[in-house]
Amino acid sequence: MARKKVFVVGSGGREHAILWKLAQSSKVGKLFAAPGNGGTGEIAENVSIAVDDVVGLAAFANKNNIDLTIVGPEKPLSLGIVDIFRSCGLSIFGPTRKASEIETSKAFAKRLMENARIPTARFKIFHEINTARSEIFMRSAPYVVKASGLASGKGVYVCWSLDEAEKALSEIMVERKHSSAGNEVIIEDFLNGYEVSIHVFCDGKTFSLFPPSQDYKQVSNFDLGKNTGGMGAIAPVPQFKSKHRLEIMGGIVEPVLSALTKLADPFTGCLYPGLMMTKYGPVVLEFNVRLGDPETEVYLRLLKSDFLDLVLACVEGNLESANVEWDSGFAACVILASEGYPDTPVTGRTIQGIEKAEQIPGVVVFHGATVFKEKLLTSDGRPLAVSAIGGTLEDAIKTVYAGVNCISFEGMHYRTDIGAKFL
Ligand code: AMP
Ligand code: GLY
Repeated sequence: MARKKVFVVGSGGREHAILWKLAQSSKVGKLFAAPGNGGTGEIAENVSIAVDDVVGLAAFANKNNIDLTIVGPEKPLSLGIVDIFRSCGLSIFGPTRKASEIETSKAFAKRLMENARIPTARFKIFHEINTARSEIFMRSAPYVVKASGLASGKGVYVCWSLDEAEKALSEIMVERKHSSAGNEVIIEDFLNGYEVSIHVFCDGKTFSLFPPSQDYKQVSNFDLGKNTGGMGAIAPVPQFKSKHRLEIMGGIVEPVLSALTKLADPFTGCLYPGLMMTKYGPVVLEFNVRLGDPETEVYLRLLKSDFLDLVLACVEGNLESANVEWDSGFAACVILASEGYPDTPVTGRTIQGIEKAEQIPGVVVFHGATVFKEKLLTSDGRPLAVSAIGGTLEDAIKTVYAGVNCISFEGMHYRTDIGAKFL
């Protein structure tokens, strides 16, 4: 069989991890990344096409006889990259534009969950500031206010005072900070519990559930400070029990997939529900329609099976016969962030120590926002994702921080408590 040419769309740690894993497959030939980063350029050809230029990406795949395209971020999915590729006869991993609405419109997701009786926080949807404000006045803290559309993870406000909640409404609905993502606003009940990220590979008919993982969203230790794209991850999650798995499959995954088949399109790709594990069981906070970042950086350290086979099984509709094997150990990942992140990251800083970190057994460093210009420089908010595996979670965490300690760039900051609560 000829080796496959694979094209990965995106430029973060997730995409570097995907390429790193694909490069280990004997069935993979040349790899391409658009636009990629300083790390992907070492194992793939970086192609300078933006992730939202979906027509340009399709033209590239067509011209270069790409066998398979894997989409990292949500933006191109929201623009219908899968529909365009399919209409050109190109093989692509991800959901259609319509099926992606479960991530791109929180209002759509909430209504779908209500109709399909999928557990989620009780909610109301608003289009107008005065009625939204009245709703806030009738509730008590903490208030949860969400812009419905895509807002790079910044459209969700968990507010501890009435003042903060009013400010959140004003940012979304008056100042239009998230532009059209704020056309609809959700106000919902606050949920207590611990969060898990679930990843489900789907082929439109059947699905395969990954082990549970956990993402650390706030910028500082003890979950303090602003929300970010993710500051670290672990997998699997020690508290998570096998009964939770069954509850998630029967109570969330199966009903959402059948509702999407009815209301939109059969879902192919990776469905990633973010859940709150409450004392009543798992409750959906949100749905994503792609792999998580930094969750992917831990998952692909633990996946034993060939990632190309798994992705192709989803695209070709034969996931049922795919063999999906996981390492029995643990993985941890720590994001090394830039000065000023998550607000205004300072870039162009020289990165040192990656080779030394990777000499530690178990450590792999994925690049997020780096660029190679004679030397390796930071280029945005989350330059590196240091990952490690271990037989126990404690081993994985010790090893990942040993790796972190080898690396430096001016202004670098990171959380020192990834996975700590389980130790
Ligand atoms: P989302 O993008 O909807 O997952 O929200 C981002 C983060 O806000 C989540 O990871 C939670 O930490 C928090 N959050 C969202 N909705 C709620 C809720 N109803 N109750 C408590 N925390 C929430
Ligand atoms: N881990 C957060 C995200 O990928 O949306």
